[in-house]
Amino acid sequence: MCGIFGYVGNRKDAGRIVVRGIKSLEYRGYDSWGVARMIDGDIFIEKNVGKIGGVNPESFSELSSIAIAHTRWATHGGVTKENAHPHISCDKKISVVHNGIIENYQELREELKNKGHTFTSETDTEIICHMIAENLKTSKDLPEAVRITCQRFEGRYGFLIINTETNELIAARTGSPLIVGRGEDETFIASDIPAFMEHTKTVNYIDDGEMVITDGKETRFYEINSGKEIDKRNVEITLDIEEAKKGEYEHFMLKEIMDQKDTIARAVNQDEEQIQTIANAIRDAQGTFLSACGTAGKVCMASEYFFSVVAEKHVNFTPASEFPIYHHFLVPESLLIVVSQSGETADVLEAMKVAKSKRAKVLAVVNSEGSTIDREADYTLLINAGPERAVASTKAATGQMAVMLLVAYALADKLNEGRAVLLETASMINDMLNPRYMEHVSGIAENIKEEENVYIIGKSWNYPMALESAIKIQEVSYVHAEGFAGGELKHGPIALIQKGTPCIALIGNDETKMDTLSNTIELKARGAHIIGVAPENNEVFDEWIKVPDAETAQAIVNIIPIQVLAYYLAIKRGKDPDMPRNLAKSVTVK
Ligand code: AGP
Repeated sequence: MCGIFGYVGNRKDAGRIVVRGIKSLEYRGYDSWGVARMIDGDIFIEKNVGKIGGVNPESFSELSSIAIAHTRWATHGGVTKENAHPHISCDKKISVVHNGIIENYQELREELKNKGHTFTSETDTEIICHMIAENLKTSKDLPEAVRITCQRFEGRYGFLIINTETNELIAARTGSPLIVGRGEDETFIASDIPAFMEHTKTVNYIDDGEMVITDGKETRFYEINSGKEIDKRNVEITLDIEEAKKGEYEHFMLKEIMDQKDTIARAVNQDEEQIQTIANAIRDAQGTFLSACGTAGKVCMASEYFFSVVAEKHVNFTPASEFPIYHHFLVPESLLIVVSQSGETADVLEAMKVAKSKRAKVLAVVNSEGSTIDREADYTLLINAGPERAVASTKAATGQMAVMLLVAYALADKLNEGRAVLLETASMINDMLNPRYMEHVSGIAENIKEEENVYIIGKSWNYPMALESAIKIQEVSYVHAEGFAGGELKHGPIALIQKGTPCIALIGNDETKMDTLSNTIELKARGAHIIGVAPENNEVFDEWIKVPDAETAQAIVNIIPIQVLAYYLAIKRGKDPDMPRNLAKSVTVK
């Protein structure tokens, strides 16, 4: 949440560079934006509520060789110009942009007020610049003042500062991502690589408890606590710049839905030995736990069924925010499998910390290579879906399911069979996502776009897909949607059904088919308008969305038309599917 980006170097249009770059971090938050530049020895700040997307980089072209920028997802303090970052110290000499939450900010704010500092916002962030200014009075230099300041913070932060005394960009991290991009006589520091991808592909990852000082030419890394200088390895990243663009599509969400024509095959393309090592680790573990948030959590729930049906293995899902409560069950022989698109989700990192404190091993299934979760896990399986920019997760979710299903097959000593099922599924998805299909689903969205409620049912792996369908519809179209296990209807939720209520039934050609059809008939008897998502039509359906018969991979194919439906519902209701209200792509606060 929140994107930060800073530049220092030999170019003279630092403002323009950071505005262009921060636009690609808009997915991290889009309540307000701001830029601070040093021009002729003074810091100039421009900020406002709204999205950075609409801001013209050309209006930031004055001579400046150092600048920082921010795109905000509000935590402390409402969405106002005053609360937008950057913030600046009372003497106007130190300006800061920040991602994270300083949990003890109230106490520190009081302390600073008592020392005469004046606050102009309600944010936790503003204490950073005031406190550095305060500590500078008694420190030998600015880096020392930054280090001492960081040592007082509880919570999570990734921040960047500029100051009027030196032409240096200083960054520090604990809990929120920061990556350094190394150019020739110029340095970039950002929450995520796309901000500087057009300038350099050579990066250094900053770890928790570390800080960076750079004047563009020379970049030095230090431990915050000891002040000891540390060496960093240059890493060449392989991200494809074109993949991070919308191309011919109007929205990233639609592009990423269509990317699923080949992302399943990419996910399946895993190193055989690595998959087998992981299958063995699961086999040997005393208890395998799955944990993740939101959509990735629904992937984990589906995986419980994959492991049960394919490998007859019990694994146990807990939402990452709840996982720490389970620490009593963790032993050094336990295995935690975490799933994440961004690889930066705070609750997932917290779950990993809890597992590691019990010396349990962690396997990560992630999309973002080099992310904190990727680097901190004992084993990683990358899903290789390419950058996912829309807030709603689509291709990452199906790629994650493909990898988890493959692992389940490996655990059952049937890796080749698993690969064959998934590659067949990949080819069927390629056929399915054709213009006529999209038009058909768009027509169904047109029919239900005025409805206030949509309910979705499923059984077995279609149950978590019903829950995931609800997330997709809620987050982009703002229609109230809820998913249920079909069998649970008669225990309460069926009371919600009235004449014409749209209900979606997710069905596969498996042992659960007849049960779900019975539940669908019960809904129909109460007047529901039934949208069946199934390989075969049925007389109970008022509308039918055909999906391929994908056997154990049915969850993967069944969720795709719902992603399409959610997308068209958003468009027809005049909403922006890429940047839904109140949300952000990467949730780096607990
Ligand atoms: C997905 O559509 C959501 N926006 C959200 O639930 C997401 O899946 C969740 O925040 C987890 O993110 P991660 O995969 O990056 O960890």
